[in-house]
Amino acid sequence: MNNKVDFLVIGSGMAGLIYALNVAPFGRVCILSKIEMDETATSYAQGGIAAVMYDPDNIEKHIKDTIVAGAGLNNEEIVRIAITESTERIKELADWGTHFDKESTGKFSLAKEGGHSEYRILHHKDNTGNEIQRALSEKIKNHPNITVLENNLAIDLITQHHQGKLVKRKNSDITCFGAYTLDKNTGEINTILAKTTLLATGGIGNVYQTTTNPTLSTGDGIAMAYRAKAHIDNLEFVQFHPTSLYNPGEKPSFLITEAMRGAGAELVTRNGKTFMHKYDERGSLAPRDIVARAIDNELKISGDEHVFLDTKKISKSEIINHFPTIYAKCLSIGIDITKDSIPVVPAAHYSCGGVTTDQWGQTSINNLFAAGEVANTGLHGANRLASNSLLESAVFSHRAAEKAATLVANIRFETNIPDWNDEGTVLNEEMILITQSKKELQSIMSNYVGIVRSNLRLKRALDRLIIIYEETEDLFDKSIVSEPICELRNMINVAHLIIRMAMARKESIGLHCNIDYPA
Ligand code: FAD
Ligand code: SIN
Repeated sequence: MNNKVDFLVIGSGMAGLIYALNVAPFGRVCILSKIEMDETATSYAQGGIAAVMYDPDNIEKHIKDTIVAGAGLNNEEIVRIAITESTERIKELADWGTHFDKESTGKFSLAKEGGHSEYRILHHKDNTGNEIQRALSEKIKNHPNITVLENNLAIDLITQHHQGKLVKRKNSDITCFGAYTLDKNTGEINTILAKTTLLATGGIGNVYQTTTNPTLSTGDGIAMAYRAKAHIDNLEFVQFHPTSLYNPGEKPSFLITEAMRGAGAELVTRNGKTFMHKYDERGSLAPRDIVARAIDNELKISGDEHVFLDTKKISKSEIINHFPTIYAKCLSIGIDITKDSIPVVPAAHYSCGGVTTDQWGQTSINNLFAAGEVANTGLHGANRLASNSLLESAVFSHRAAEKAATLVANIRFETNIPDWNDEGTVLNEEMILITQSKKELQSIMSNYVGIVRSNLRLKRALDRLIIIYEETEDLFDKSIVSEPICELRNMINVAHLIIRMAMARKESIGLHCNIDYPA
C-alpha cells in the first residue's frame, strides 16, 4: 500500500493532536497511533499544566523557577517563549473543551508543585491529562481533514538513505519523506509519503524496570530519528518521579501526584520521621531530582523498600474531591489515604532530552518536526520543573504546526521510494529471545544508569548493552517485522544514547548524578 499525505503525525498524545488540529486547515493529515488513540502518556498525567495566570504570579517568576530546576542548562530563549505563550495555550485548550477546575469566583483553581514559587498548576482534579486527551480527541474525531490510523506502528523514517544514497549525521541536507509503518491489524508494511512529518511519540520510561510511563513509552521516535541521523541531546537527564505507589509487580507504577505534597503531604520514613529538611530547605517540595536522590539515599541507609507519604495535613474532603483517582486506587489495594500514609518509591518518569529542535519544532532533518516528550527543545535543561511537560507539548506543537503550514505548499512528494525490504526474513517463533533481552536491558539501566551513577557502572552498562544490541540487530534483520522486536530495538538504541551521553558528561548536575564527580 502507498499513501500520500501533507502532514504525517506519529503519535496521538497531546503534542500530536494539537499539531494535527492546527495544520488540518492546510492539507490532509494522517495520525498514527501504535495502539488505541487515547492510550497515551498524556492520558495518565495527573497534577496538571503550569501557566502564568494571575497576580502575584508573573512570567519572570515562572522563568526563574524553570531555570533553577533545570540547573541553568536551559535554553533561556525557549524558556521565555514557552512561558510567555502559556496563557494563550491554556485559553486554546479551554476553548477546545478542556475543563480545568475553577474556584467559586470563576477563576481557575491553581495548585502548587515542587520547585514552583507560586500556585500556577491548572488541573482537572487529579486526572488532568485524561481530560485534555478527551477534549482533543473529540475535536479530532469530527475533523474532515484528519484520519487516525490506530494500531499502526511507525518502523522507520524514510530519507535519502532508502534511495541508496549515503547519509551522514553531519549533513545538513537530509530530508524526511515520510515513514514505513506496520499495520498491526493486517501485518502489512506500508509506505506513507508525507510532505512533512511530526514525531510526537512520547517518552522512554520502559527502558527502566520501574516506570510511571505506559507500556507504549519505548523511545520509538528518538530511536527512529537517531537512525535517520538527526541530532539528539540531553538524554542523560532522565527524571525519576519521587513518589510512585509502592505496589510490587504493578506495571506501570501508579503515580502519586506531586500536587499532594503541594497540598501539604510530607515524606516520612517507616518510623514517621520527616527527612527532606536534611537535604533541602524546601523540604518535600524541593525539585524532583533532589527529592528522588534523598529518597534513594534514605532507602540505602535504612534498607527499606519504600518511604511513606504522610497525608494527614490534607483534609478528608480535599483528598476525596481533589485526588479522587489516587484515593480510589489506594483504597483498591487496602490503603485508606484519609487515614493511612502511602508507601512510595521513585520511578523513571520523564526524558528531558530527545530529538533536538529549534523554537519552531524543526529538527536537524528537513521537513521533520518533533514536539512533546520526544523533543529536546531546551526548556527543561538538566531537570524538568513539574507540570512544564504538558506546557511544552502545548506551546511547541502549536509552533511546529504554524511552521509546517507555511512550508507545505512548497514541498513536493518524493518519488523513487522503494517498498520496505523484507527479503529473507522469517517469522520469529521464539518470543523468549525478545522478552529476555528486554528484561536484561531494563535491569542494566535500572541498576547501573539510574538515579545515582558512577563511571564504573556506566562502563558495565555499555559493555553489557553492546551484547544485547548485536544479538537484537541480528534478530531484527532476520525476522518478519513485529511490534515487540521494533520496540526492543528502539529501547536498546535509546539506552545506548543515554549511557553514551551520561559518560560524556563529566560532572554531576540536575538529574545526572555521578559519584565520581561530586556536585
Ligand atoms: P504521549 O502522550 O506519550 O503520546 C505518544 C503517542 O505516540 C501515543 O499515541 C503512541 O501510540 C504514539 N507512538 C509512540 N511510538 C509510536 C510508533 N512507533 N508508531 C506510532 N505511534 C507511536 N506532565 C505534566 O506536565 N503534568 C503532569 O501532571 C504530568 N503527569 C504525568 C503523570 C504520569 C503518570 C506520566 C507517565 C507522565 C506525566 N507527565 C506530566 C508527563 C506528560 O504526561 C508527558 O510528557 C506528555 O503527556 C507527553 O505527551 P506526548 O504527546 O509527547 O506523548
Ligand atoms: C505529578 O502530578 O506529580 C506529575 C507532574 C509532572 O510530571 O509534571
